[in-house]
Amino acid sequence: MLAGRRILLIIGGGIAAYKALDLIRRLKEQGAAVTPVLTRAAQEFVTPLSASALAGEKVYTDLFDLTDEAEMGHIELSRAADLLVVAPATADLMAKMAGGHADDLASTLLMATDKRVLIAPAMNVRMWEHPATARNLATLLADGVLTVGPNEGDMACGEFGFGRMAEPAEIVAAAAAGLGEGPLKGRHLIVTSGPTHEPIDPVRFIANRSSGAQGAAIAEALANLGARVSFVTGPAEAAMPRGATVIRVETAQEMLDAVTAALPADAAVFAAAVADWRVDGAQAGKIKKTAKGGVPELRLVENPDILATVARMPTGRPALVVGFAAETDDVIANATAKRARKGCDWIVANDVSAGTGIMGGTENAVTLIHAEGSETWPRLSKAEVGRRLAARIAAHLTAGA
Ligand code: CTP
Repeated sequence: MLAGRRILLIIGGGIAAYKALDLIRRLKEQGAAVTPVLTRAAQEFVTPLSASALAGEKVYTDLFDLTDEAEMGHIELSRAADLLVVAPATADLMAKMAGGHADDLASTLLMATDKRVLIAPAMNVRMWEHPATARNLATLLADGVLTVGPNEGDMACGEFGFGRMAEPAEIVAAAAAGLGEGPLKGRHLIVTSGPTHEPIDPVRFIANRSSGAQGAAIAEALANLGARVSFVTGPAEAAMPRGATVIRVETAQEMLDAVTAALPADAAVFAAAVADWRVDGAQAGKIKKTAKGGVPELRLVENPDILATVARMPTGRPALVVGFAAETDDVIANATAKRARKGCDWIVANDVSAGTGIMGGTENAVTLIHAEGSETWPRLSKAEVGRRLAARIAAHLTAGA
């Protein structure tokens, strides 16, 4: 997957640095050449010798090493690579990158490069949630820096939350995607996400509780596998997926139009919580409470079913059409019936009853239903559900390819 590619791996000073050694091994397994650079802090966690032994290459640590500078200057070092990967990207390294500092070899290389940069943040959950880190991340994303993780889980410091570095296999996949590689390279996927807003008048609308988190996680995971992703989203709270083309819509009709315009696609995932009804004859002016006739009566009409429309297209139907089924009762039976009714290939069923905390929450418990039967996944973070589903889609689309 990475044959002939050179990766400059900047290892930051955090406990996750030990995973960077496994990352070197896995990048090499994929055919990449790896040049490790260790910050001074990184050398407190892993030795240059182990990084060098695994990479089979010279390791760089010092900006002012005259021998290194004579052999290969830092400008050349940063440009000889096809991609720069920072793993772990500590809060401090992210701050330096966002601020444009160049006071050691790692930060200087990151400033001097003309190549894409992928960071795998790793830090304590409070540091990750700190407004300064959030600001720095926003700056880095705006600068076009690619990111992978962090994941949620137990941390070396004994706390739980977001801050664990992405696993080496995920970083390899993200590096491949950053280089335009990956199992879904050359494939186009459409993902719908979020709620839709159906206007009542210019200030009021009908909506639902969808945050758009699951759809965004799926889109990002697909992009990380190298796919070109068109992400058609209603007005959602969740962060937009990195690496996808975002197409913003408001209503179900606009969502259908945007999906149709984005076709053809190899696969489409309909994760949006589309409003089933819209108000017939939404008012151009604000409906006044004081209007004659008292409380207004809203007449609802059915919205187009985007999933069913695409799944039943006579020509140009994506090879794989995946729907979601938000249910509160008889989840599997209802979802199985929904799969047949809508004509999709797979349906991802989830229980959105009030007590589950799934609608608007960070976790999901799903059952994947297909022609061969069904499989229930354990309760997982929405990010993990996204990764698993993306991996399944990639395996399906590339089977026999
Ligand atoms: N969907 C869609 N367009 C609609 C309604 C739903 O594309 N107008 C898609 C959703 O994105 C999801 C699937 O259809 O993939 C099922 O959505 P869900 O809300 O569970 O089902 P409904 O069709 O609304 O059926 P019901 O209200 O009877 O559960």
